[in-house]
Amino acid sequence: MDFDAALQAGSQCVHAGMPEFELAGPLSPSPEFATAYHQDLDDVAPTIYGRWGHTAADRLEVALGALDQGRSVVFNSGMAAVSAVLLGLLRPGDKLVLFEGGTYYETRQISDQLIDRGVTVQVLAGVDELRAAVVGARLVVLESPSNPLLDLYDVRAAARVAHAAGALVAVDNSVSSPLGQCPLALGADLVMSSDAKVVCGHNDLILGHVSGRDGELIETIRHWRHLHGGIPSPFVCWLAHRSIGTLEVRLLRQNANAAALVELLAGRPEVAGLRWPGSARDPQRAIADRQMKLGGGLLTFQLPDRAHLHRFLRSSRLVSAATSYGGLQTTANDIGAWPHLRVPDGLVRISAGCEDTQDLVTDIRRALDAALPVSVHSYAAPNAHGVTG
Ligand SMILES: Cc1ncc(COP(=O)(O)O)c(C=O)c1O
Repeated sequence: MDFDAALQAGSQCVHAGMPEFELAGPLSPSPEFATAYHQDLDDVAPTIYGRWGHTAADRLEVALGALDQGRSVVFNSGMAAVSAVLLGLLRPGDKLVLFEGGTYYETRQISDQLIDRGVTVQVLAGVDELRAAVVGARLVVLESPSNPLLDLYDVRAAARVAHAAGALVAVDNSVSSPLGQCPLALGADLVMSSDAKVVCGHNDLILGHVSGRDGELIETIRHWRHLHGGIPSPFVCWLAHRSIGTLEVRLLRQNANAAALVELLAGRPEVAGLRWPGSARDPQRAIADRQMKLGGGLLTFQLPDRAHLHRFLRSSRLVSAATSYGGLQTTANDIGAWPHLRVPDGLVRISAGCEDTQDLVTDIRRALDAALPVSVHSYAAPNAHGVTG
């Protein structure tokens, strides 16, 4: 069940963790639905129990480890993975450093709970502040690109500064996925991911994982999962592993669709503040070039106000208003509706799906036209919400 480190990421997606060759054996694994296993009465050591581990999780961990270039531990959600890192590694008296814009809201909420448990938490505006802040820290957490604003943080620079001060670095890689960016290769100690997003990619699974290269650190995380019961079921692991087979194909289509949408949006006068890490015009393109392999499927931009944004979304047939991202279907989030973010009304995050590129561009162009304040338009087909434009 080992993986061949010489293979490219796309081949790892297809082959890592799959059954070994066996004459007349299956090419694909099947989940084993057992919580208890027959025990050897003379040797209790190899006792197996479903909360401690199972074959479908082992196989999925081989695949994710191959993609992250480390060893992985799977969890039943992204937040379970984040919790294992924050709560499993930090003790009273430790210091945690994180970034104002670059931390998922619920990760921030966990850090607030840590303050009540005696952990010092310092929140920074940017990597420039890290050198002074990291003194005495145990852990630095960053998220790049950040969800939902797609701000980038220089992972290599952060790891260099943090390591010089003896701190660990954990990177939330949910937005990019291991194919878009490999934080362990950039110097991070741990990667955390919500795999409900790009990794599983079908808007139908909740899953997360943590990866690292240091055996002791990974065993600490695994032991946390063992005690806290965070292992996903065999069925979910099997389905996730199956989904990863097409990860590269999906991501390349999402990336191409995002690139085409950026071309369209860049020429629209009602669009401002367009962000996509893959764009030559993105203000943080230099950081993207240093650490990202692909821009990915997420982009954000500003429409004049919320009413305009809602007209746009109601006019589209292919874009569904929905939270989450990275799935087959193109989705959009009204970011301004999240009060904790304090961003202007009309800011939208689009997650480009795997639809045909021309169909998506045509649909979004028509929806933007239909959303213009004074417009005479003929596009009135029912959209994904059953609403006509
Ligand atoms: C960047 C990031 N981290 C963590 C999470 C939490 O993951 P989950 O919803 O799988 O628990 C999310 C979910 O949106 C996310 O976008």
